Amino acid sequence: MFNSLQQQPADKILALVQLYKEDPRENKIDLGVGVYKDASGQTPIMHSIKKAEHLLWETQETKSYVGLTGTPEFSEALVNLILGENFDQSLTASAATPGGTGAVRQAFELGKLANPNLRVFVSDPTWPNHLSILKYLGIPVEPYRYFDAKTRAVDFSAMMADLAKAKEGDIILLHGCCHNPTGANLKAPEWDAVIELLLKSGATPMIDIAYQGFGDGLEEDAAGVRKLVSGVPETIIAASCSKNFGIYRERTGLLTVVSHNKDARIINQSTLAFLNRQNFSFPPDHGARLVTMVLSDEDLRSNWMAELEEVRQSMLSLRTQLATELENLSGSNRFGFLADHRGMFSRLGASAQQVSALRENHAVYMVGDSRLNIAGLNSNTVSILAKAIVDCGI
Ligand code: LMR
Repeated sequence: MFNSLQQQPADKILALVQLYKEDPRENKIDLGVGVYKDASGQTPIMHSIKKAEHLLWETQETKSYVGLTGTPEFSEALVNLILGENFDQSLTASAATPGGTGAVRQAFELGKLANPNLRVFVSDPTWPNHLSILKYLGIPVEPYRYFDAKTRAVDFSAMMADLAKAKEGDIILLHGCCHNPTGANLKAPEWDAVIELLLKSGATPMIDIAYQGFGDGLEEDAAGVRKLVSGVPETIIAASCSKNFGIYRERTGLLTVVSHNKDARIINQSTLAFLNRQNFSFPPDHGARLVTMVLSDEDLRSNWMAELEEVRQSMLSLRTQLATELENLSGSNRFGFLADHRGMFSRLGASAQQVSALRENHAVYMVGDSRLNIAGLNSNTVSILAKAIVDCGI
């Protein structure tokens, strides 16, 4: 029966990881997959996570199953981080998931269960796996314009014009902060306008938030989401702990449904449990437990916040350094957007050929759409990259 299978298209981000590994050049620079690297090129385990792991090892007495939606403590702690301490958690139903991708996948399935004719509006561009999962689930995609390739900022009027086509029963997928792949984000008044549009159309927002704390700070990065959740009747949130807790391989994510109709909570919660049971039964616990421990212990939490802030500051400083180097080398400020963007990624605006030339001639790896992972740089490689960019005529 397997004769009927066909080679699947490679994920363009993950294919790059392999290409990079196979490159024997010593001075190669990996700006592909979204993984934070410190100045020595390592992806370290945060001290706060290590401490929690140690404590867990000492105190954990069983590895028996937890609930189908994970532990309520994890949901509560993470919702608290995203929506703030004062948010009324009796409005939420949540399920732990295998990573943020697991939450995204379950969110789409939830949407399809609620509306078999579901359409999902996604920013153009978006994280390629959004599109791939939607295609796999047979859910129609409605791209909305988002990024102005000239200004490298959000093309908000085009975005709103396209979103005006959404109606009740549709999902509008928004990136909570640190837009992947562009690094261009909505401003506070733009979130207000999106809320108005949602109220008018009746469409349901879905927030993918995978980089809280990587942009302008933990609170600042959640400000748009918080406003939106308070302003509309229902919101879906798919959250990842991979990046801000540095626990990529532990697969730690959360799907939360907020409904201002309190009666909906029991049904929402049971639907999330059902979806988990159908797809993988119990979600992974280890990472979720570490996150819960870190967020609930005063010392661990403040250590973690300091570590996260260091990561954020290092990315900001790399952004400024790169923009300055490029300004000096190119004699123009056309790369100034790199300092304005937030999060791990920016889209450079290079052609596919220029991206190949960067790889072939300079051993610089970035995704084919010219998305570069700022966190893959360090103070030594910034100038190498800047020279390579100018050399390739970008
Ligand atoms: C990325 O966009 O590079 C990350 O979210 C990792 C992934 O799974 O694609």
